[in-house]
Amino acid sequence: MKIINAKNYEELSKQAADIILTQIKINPFSVLGLATGSTPLGTYKELIKSYNEKLVYFKNIKTVNLDEYVGLSPDNPQSYRYFMNHNLFDFLDIKKENTFVPNGCTKNIESEAENYDNIIKNLGGIDLQLLGIGLDGHIGFNEPSNCFFKNTHTVNLTPSTIKANSRFFKNEEEVPKQAVTMGIGAIMQAKKVLLLANGKQKEDILNKALFGNITPKVPASILQLHNNVTVIFCE
Ligand code: GLP
Repeated sequence: MKIINAKNYEELSKQAADIILTQIKINPFSVLGLATGSTPLGTYKELIKSYNEKLVYFKNIKTVNLDEYVGLSPDNPQSYRYFMNHNLFDFLDIKKENTFVPNGCTKNIESEAENYDNIIKNLGGIDLQLLGIGLDGHIGFNEPSNCFFKNTHTVNLTPSTIKANSRFFKNEEEVPKQAVTMGIGAIMQAKKVLLLANGKQKEDILNKALFGNITPKVPASILQLHNNVTVIFCE
């Protein structure tokens, strides 16, 4: 595991974008696993900047996102599909049909989950998975639990996650109580993992995840078993 202590958020974002750009240079047909939340926003801005400077093209890139809220349609500004379109995809030459985000607004969420795993499988797996980390140690929306869930599945969000994510909603009541998330299996099968953690408030959980026991109570701790992880942290 490689751990980088960045000077500040700008540095974290630049270094993360560089790793993604290198991946695209190595393989312009890469499958990128992408994340939402506030942490990757700076990284996405850097990618857009590089695209505008004609340093990189995304026309052959495919992306799979980690998760989506149950019950939010793609045109809902709080949905992760909307987030990805408005913070990244709309500014690149990526083909929208090559960008995948779980559909949280389907009647049959179980078959949506199965379908999502098939999409990842048919793409040949993930070359580089970008991750943030929740205050409770979640990756994607794999919440603390008694076991690791391998496949894409529906989860009940923990009170800590609902509280943390309420900053994007009018109030806590509006935060969906469930989400559909890629499982630990697809994340661990990604060839490379890039985990970003921004801010002092993430330090404690990051330490637990990287140096504590490997336990589903701290889902990100499973990354200790992955053989190609880069972590970028800044206070
Ligand atoms: C959400 C997402 C996660 C993300 C986490 C951290 O819950 N499902 O993928 O890592 O938030 O968010 P932030 O980067 O805003 O701290």
